[in-house]
Amino acid sequence: MRELIRINQPFLGKEEIDSVVDVLRSGVLTDKSGMGPRVLEFERSFAKFVGAKHAIAVVNGTAALHAALLAADVSVGDEVIIPSFTFVGAANAVVLTGATPVFADIDKDSYCMRLDSVEEALTRKTKAVIPTDMYGLPADISSMMDFAREKGIAVIEDAAQAHGAQFNGKRVGSIADMTCFSFYAGKNLTTGEGGMVTTNDDSYAQALRMIRSQGEQRPYWTVRLGTNYHITEMAAAIGFAQLKKLPAFLEKRRRNAEIATERLSMSGKLFLPHEPDGRSHSWYLYTVRLRGVNAAKRNKIVDRLWNKNIESAVYYATPVHSTPYYRDGNVSRRGRLPETEKASRQVFSLPVHPKLSESDIEYVSETLRKTIA
Ligand SMILES: Cc1ncc(COP(=O)(O)O)c(C=O)c1O
Repeated sequence: MRELIRINQPFLGKEEIDSVVDVLRSGVLTDKSGMGPRVLEFERSFAKFVGAKHAIAVVNGTAALHAALLAADVSVGDEVIIPSFTFVGAANAVVLTGATPVFADIDKDSYCMRLDSVEEALTRKTKAVIPTDMYGLPADISSMMDFAREKGIAVIEDAAQAHGAQFNGKRVGSIADMTCFSFYAGKNLTTGEGGMVTTNDDSYAQALRMIRSQGEQRPYWTVRLGTNYHITEMAAAIGFAQLKKLPAFLEKRRRNAEIATERLSMSGKLFLPHEPDGRSHSWYLYTVRLRGVNAAKRNKIVDRLWNKNIESAVYYATPVHSTPYYRDGNVSRRGRLPETEKASRQVFSLPVHPKLSESDIEYVSETLRKTIA
């Protein structure tokens, strides 16, 4: 029997291990402003990689979103437009600021939030919009930026899944007002737990650095609301080592996705992921959709893949607005979300991570073809 093929897993080597040991030997595990030498090195290289002026490392991707919202001065009485078809982190970050998340619907092909749905959700209270780069495919970020500029609101891109993805030849992280990344263990680049906000705006960068460190302008001199979102020197050292490998990881993910598409396109029953013009995927997840099925039938297929030692997963079977806290609490607002509801019943994701060989991808694709035949 084959070993379980995981949906995503960290790809670590000697470089990461050696760099953490070096940090431990140095005795400098963190810094009181969150800006130790390893953090600064990681931030500089990450900013260069995405093509942004600033990168501010934080403790995780949700903290990155929360810090970005605070930097945009989002607070009680404000509204922030976000997708419901995404990880709950953005919604929670909005609620933590005291503002109200307003859920907008997605595009049925890209699974990213649609501009016309954002336009419908806009009110005088709207302070920011958070498009997610779903599964690693950039949202329509330039339309969001044009819209937001006209309305005077901030665009905070949730690129937790999209390290290395590109929009019109520019890397994600260099386009929106602020872009938030996650370095959780399963992500394209990991530090165990970790996150980053990138921006080209000096005042956002200055605010983010203070928010990360108790709102302090200098030690023990708090000038705005902040918290402790420091990333450790160990995590930053891992991130720096991982970043050097990221281009090779991304190439392998792309190749694996291409093989999956070659094999699965023969089936005719599946809607496969694709890259709209000008957008380049980071292939964090290879998400397919079985048209016309209900959730029970989709779940059965996912179970059958598990029985064949393939970890298929559903992101996201319960859209954020249908989780108990958001459904029952009086904390959010939404209009109709038909594409969100439909996608949550029909999608499932397959592994394409860089540890997988061509034969693993062929096995996954063949098994799925037989399962749905
Ligand atoms: C789209 C999205 N947003 C936000 C997050 C939150 O990141 P973290 O788990 O690092 O807090 C994640 C990762 O889990 C994610 O996938």
